[in-house]
Amino acid sequence: MHSDEPGANPGTSTPATLVTGAMPVHIACVMDGNGRWAARRGLPRTDGHAAGEAALLDTVEGALELGVSWLTMYAFSTENWRRPPDEVRYLMGFNEGLLMRRRDELNDKGVRIRFAGRRDWRVPRRVLRRMDESVALTESNRRMTLTMAFNYGGRAEIVDAVRALVADGVPAGKVDDKAIRARFYQPEQPDPDLVVRTSGEYRISNFLLWQLAYSELVFTDVLWPDFRRQHLFDAVGEYQRRRRRYGGVS
Ligand code: FPP
Repeated sequence: MHSDEPGANPGTSTPATLVTGAMPVHIACVMDGNGRWAARRGLPRTDGHAAGEAALLDTVEGALELGVSWLTMYAFSTENWRRPPDEVRYLMGFNEGLLMRRRDELNDKGVRIRFAGRRDWRVPRRVLRRMDESVALTESNRRMTLTMAFNYGGRAEIVDAVRALVADGVPAGKVDDKAIRARFYQPEQPDPDLVVRTSGEYRISNFLLWQLAYSELVFTDVLWPDFRRQHLFDAVGEYQRRRRRYGGVS
């Protein structure tokens, strides 16, 4: 990273300075900025995604160090099919390769791998197979659940839940928060306490729309391939300085 880049000089939060009793239970990340990271180096966008793998693994390590129970990473959105076909093809193969390369070490660390998103015809069968294998391999792990939001859209998840309500014949009077949530991709997952988005973009981009209702949002200018656990610790430091009110008073 160039030292004059925003976010180049990380803060000083460490697992020791953070408040153990106020750790986020669930952190969700929007891994943005791979393309710009590559462009700045005169590289193809896909090289930026490849460089993002180290960031992802270091973030997992950092979250484990902090004792975070749930980590959700936005890996491919229902809108990302609009990217150039070559990039989409690359991302499918990249995500499959990432699972092949990393699932054993994640399993060894006690990480349970899960996926959130639509299993539609656009996701190659091969990729679905790797996803299923990774879920099965890590199913009994409990140290942390790593959810890859893949072919995921917050609106699609709500639409799918509504379809399930209708298919289940739930009468209008019985439709409430609980009934909707029970039909999400991971009903037992707590809502994110903290969402981190990299690369200086201040938006949610269809990520976990329902679940983010009261999440704390932290935005950083760091491009995803440069993101490391120190940045995660700093985001948690900022989270711990916030006062959450959930619509009430503190
Ligand atoms: C949302 O922004 C960002 C994502 C859905 C993340 C995309 C991440 C990758 C393609 C790389 C995955 C990397 C690893 C290491 C697995 P957006 O660009 O979809 O939305 P926007 O157009 O609103 O910015």
